[in-house]
Amino acid sequence: MPNNSLKIAVIGGDGTGPEVTAEAVKVLKAVGKLEKIEMQFDSFDIGGDRYLKTGIIITDDEIAQLRRYSSILLGAIGHPDVAPGILERGLLLRLRFAFDQYINLRPVKLLPGVETPLKDKKPEDIDFVVVRENTEDMYAGIGGFLKKGTPDEVATQTAVYTRKGCERCIRWAFEYTQKRDNPKGKMLTLVAKTNVLTFGHDLWWRTFQEVAKEYPDVKTDYNHVDACCMWMVKNPEYYDVIVTTNMFGDIITDLAGIIQGGMGVAAGGNINPEKGGCSMYEPMGGSAPKYTGKNVINPIAAINAAAMLLEQEGFAQAAARVTKAITIVTGSRMKSQAAGKMGFGTSEVGDLVCENL
Ligand code: IPM
Ligand code: MN
Repeated sequence: MPNNSLKIAVIGGDGTGPEVTAEAVKVLKAVGKLEKIEMQFDSFDIGGDRYLKTGIIITDDEIAQLRRYSSILLGAIGHPDVAPGILERGLLLRLRFAFDQYINLRPVKLLPGVETPLKDKKPEDIDFVVVRENTEDMYAGIGGFLKKGTPDEVATQTAVYTRKGCERCIRWAFEYTQKRDNPKGKMLTLVAKTNVLTFGHDLWWRTFQEVAKEYPDVKTDYNHVDACCMWMVKNPEYYDVIVTTNMFGDIITDLAGIIQGGMGVAAGGNINPEKGGCSMYEPMGGSAPKYTGKNVINPIAAINAAAMLLEQEGFAQAAARVTKAITIVTGSRMKSQAAGKMGFGTSEVGDLVCENL
């Protein structure tokens, strides 16, 4: 594909997923027109409904097809009639591993007009980024049962950390911190638990110290994960960029998501930064099945995911345009970020963002 073009696979998924991705695609098309970016969108019918009908989550052939796209826009997965874990492991984790999306990027920014549960905190106080490792740790799927179902049952779930895995994530986080150029100063905080996880997190700690030498302009910092949870609530303005392991990253990004205004706005990227890598962008909220088809769900998170896609694919100006439009809409048009209370329907919010590009 030429440099000014994007080939995007859209997996709307379950519940309200297709409604929010439709708005994200609408905004991408509009900004693509303004910025003269040629965009191709192809929809993939993958998710809980198809699984219930056919027993298929995703085929090897679909994985091979998706690999040809620079990016995937994912709506939501999770179906009330499918047992928890099946679609999460079978689709979301499968794609993260298949495409080696080793960075989970989670910007945490309180937008104007968005409510935070933190008393007295303003948009300028909540503006940091979490870089979560996305392929190792307890997510590696290593473990097993012994004497399953008996009173003597043993279960293990092994956390796997490799030098390659942590180094590539830490290095990417340093690069990101350097480029972010925070006026408050560039600082990368390693979040781990070195006082207890004396093997795996020792590897992370040593690797962090070594890679840091290559980035003398980035201040380095360390927090234990439990202390990080306190600071994030008490002094979120302290943070610039956080780099952390997969499991801790999963937990602290939910905390971070709620302080930035919740599931209606938070978005994440599963990124393979290598040349030709296929990355996947998603709103953090679930499939919210009770709102399906009602035109009440908030599409801002999905539109934020689209902005992240543009940014990571090298269309910084287009990304900035979308982010600015979102800021106008949340700051001066929407009444609330909660489903059904926005003062507008799902598709109207998408239209408003387009009008403000
Ligand atoms: C996330 C989600 C996933 C995770 C689940 C759905 C497997 O919570 O993206 O944070 O644990 O990574
Ligand atoms: Mn999570």
